[in-house]
Amino acid sequence: MQRVYLDNAATTKIDPRVLEAMTLALRDNFGNPSSIYAEARTAKKSLEEARAQVAALIGAKTEEIIFTGGGSEADNMALRGIAEAYGKKGGHIITSKVEHHAIIHTCEYLQKQGFDVTYLPVDEFGLTTPEEVKAAIRPDTILISIMYANNEVGTIMPIREIGAVARERKILLHTDAVQAAGHIDIDVERDNIDLLSLTAHKIHGPKGVGALYLRKGVRMPPLIHGGGQERGFRAGTENLPGAVALGKACELAAAGFEKNNAHMKKLRDYLLDGIFEKIPYVKLNGHPEKRLSNNVNVSIRYIEGEGMLLRLDMDGISASSGSACTSGSLDPSHVLLAMGLDHATAHGSLRLTLSPETTKEEIDYLLEKLPPIAGFLREMSPVYKAEAGACGRQELKNCAACPVGREK
Ligand SMILES: Cc1ncc(COP(=O)(O)O)c(C=O)c1O
Repeated sequence: MQRVYLDNAATTKIDPRVLEAMTLALRDNFGNPSSIYAEARTAKKSLEEARAQVAALIGAKTEEIIFTGGGSEADNMALRGIAEAYGKKGGHIITSKVEHHAIIHTCEYLQKQGFDVTYLPVDEFGLTTPEEVKAAIRPDTILISIMYANNEVGTIMPIREIGAVARERKILLHTDAVQAAGHIDIDVERDNIDLLSLTAHKIHGPKGVGALYLRKGVRMPPLIHGGGQERGFRAGTENLPGAVALGKACELAAAGFEKNNAHMKKLRDYLLDGIFEKIPYVKLNGHPEKRLSNNVNVSIRYIEGEGMLLRLDMDGISASSGSACTSGSLDPSHVLLAMGLDHATAHGSLRLTLSPETTKEEIDYLLEKLPPIAGFLREMSPVYKAEAGACGRQELKNCAACPVGREK
């Protein structure tokens, strides 16, 4: 049976060109970059080339990139590092309610250490405004951390404007750009970003390697003490194959930026139109325009997301009903709840995330399989029978009792 992978926000398939660069580094480039002989110099050169490739994707200087073990590590390093370097106990941090758990749980940890955290609300589309950020600033605010793009609903935050507010008030800005890097035009200078997290496995690189951009001059204690690698911030002999792979993935993301985004956006809109046309009682989650070009997130009302995912999987389709970290738990997504969805609607959410490799045939396959699955699951729902399907004329798409199309 064919498999259609539509969970690229969870992770992506490695690009063969990235794999090749990584394999060569693993096989041939084994020197320790800290040593002085030829093998070491070759390794050091590759490491710095990879650093430059990462920097180029986000408009940073090469020396401002620190390799990490992924996005979560970069997020932890940014928040805990800034808290330690700039915050006396009682320092204040501003973030949003829709951040990834790598940010939320780190903030909760910092609260236990005596820091004060403001979790800004979002509107129905998942947006936090620069005005709200401005209003939350206090004399003791040391850091603002707002994600560039949301991993569940794909909403893109106004980071440039938030960056202007942060700069005006001389407060450091961190952004979790794990979902945004490679998908959105990011320029840390233009956007006034002081710290930024990204990871390789969301852009067709391997898992377990990422980077933290740390603006020159921003202070931070070491995350890992030891041999002083990564400018002393993260000790340990470098993961050279991982760094080389991340560098290559960044280079490819930059080179394919226009083409990939145009392709995914076209298919995303085709997919959304198809869902709205074929399934009644569907709500789009996230912003209609300010969203990642590869993200579709809808709530199919009167349906349990988990049941839908299992049935899709049986038909060869991989999808998600929230972030991978929260599936397996029965709690509805904190992102959807923060956007004001009720529990039932949040439970019926379906996230489909595309890649540059996704084809129209794959989307057509999904559009063939999903409507009968939704229909089957709704047939088993007493609430659906009582509320929605009562007229029994679902096929009459213009029937007032069975709204079809984009719900307001
Ligand atoms: C927005 C966001 N931040 C952080 C992470 C964590 O990245 P990693 O899996 O590389 O630790 C993810 C991964 O799902 C994410 O989507």
